[in-house]
Amino acid sequence: MILFKHRKDLSSYLQNSSITPSSIGFVPTMGALHNGHISLIQAARLENTLVVASIFVNPTQFTELIDFEKYPSTIEADILKLEKAGCDILFLPSIADIYPNGSSPSQQYDLGQLDSILEAEFRKGHFQGVCQIVHLLLEIIAPGKLYLGQKDFQQCLVIKKMISLVGIDTSVIICPTQREPDGLAMSSRNVRLSHSERQKAAYLFKTLSFIKENVQQKDLENLKQIAQNSLTDQGFKVDYVAISNAQTLETIQNWNGKSTLVALVAANINHVRLIDNLVLN
Ligand code: PAF
Repeated sequence: MILFKHRKDLSSYLQNSSITPSSIGFVPTMGALHNGHISLIQAARLENTLVVASIFVNPTQFTELIDFEKYPSTIEADILKLEKAGCDILFLPSIADIYPNGSSPSQQYDLGQLDSILEAEFRKGHFQGVCQIVHLLLEIIAPGKLYLGQKDFQQCLVIKKMISLVGIDTSVIICPTQREPDGLAMSSRNVRLSHSERQKAAYLFKTLSFIKENVQQKDLENLKQIAQNSLTDQGFKVDYVAISNAQTLETIQNWNGKSTLVALVAANINHVRLIDNLVLN
């Protein structure tokens, strides 16, 4: 695996190589890699001549400075995992290399309601920051395919929308959420859970599964309320439980039984905020 720390070096390497953009697969990450990230590298490995990953903890997508400062960093272990999974290039830039003129988002993306609901309501400016960094990385790497994890369901829709707004020729491949044996979605934040919090965290997936099992029979508002109450009873501070159209994330009140639905949840166990989702039909 070749490591690049400066965007101009990576760009000139890619421009001078004989590899066409359509055969480059790209996996953007913020590091602290787990099997969820590795599954994206493996998917990219199967479909591309060149697999590029990036590790960059992007300051512009954090609402709380403390969250940014506390973001886990395991660079050496990450490098070993990427090499083992068959990644060809790792882009590991500094903040100064990515944002030489300071890090306030310069461009605003018109993401419509995706920028005001669910995650966007609780993390103001988050998706503008995500678009800013992913747009920049796509310009540097120009991959034919971009690999994202379904765990960040709203982020996947936001990035697809940004790509169509700016007219970049990259397809988005959404890969399934990787789960621990008890159902907990793999996430870099899981390492911040204490033993008892970790046990409790599995309840999120149980709640989503309960929604999935009951979506055909129950009034959806009532179903969400039951799910929310049971999470609260387990000691979670719930930000939202939503049942939404899987293409637009609009809230579904009266389901026609046909459109694809997704249940999404965000809840805090003490100071750790977890999100998860499940496609229902
Ligand atoms: O999902 C993430 O890890 C980040 O939001 C991403 C896509 C790497 C952009 O910083």
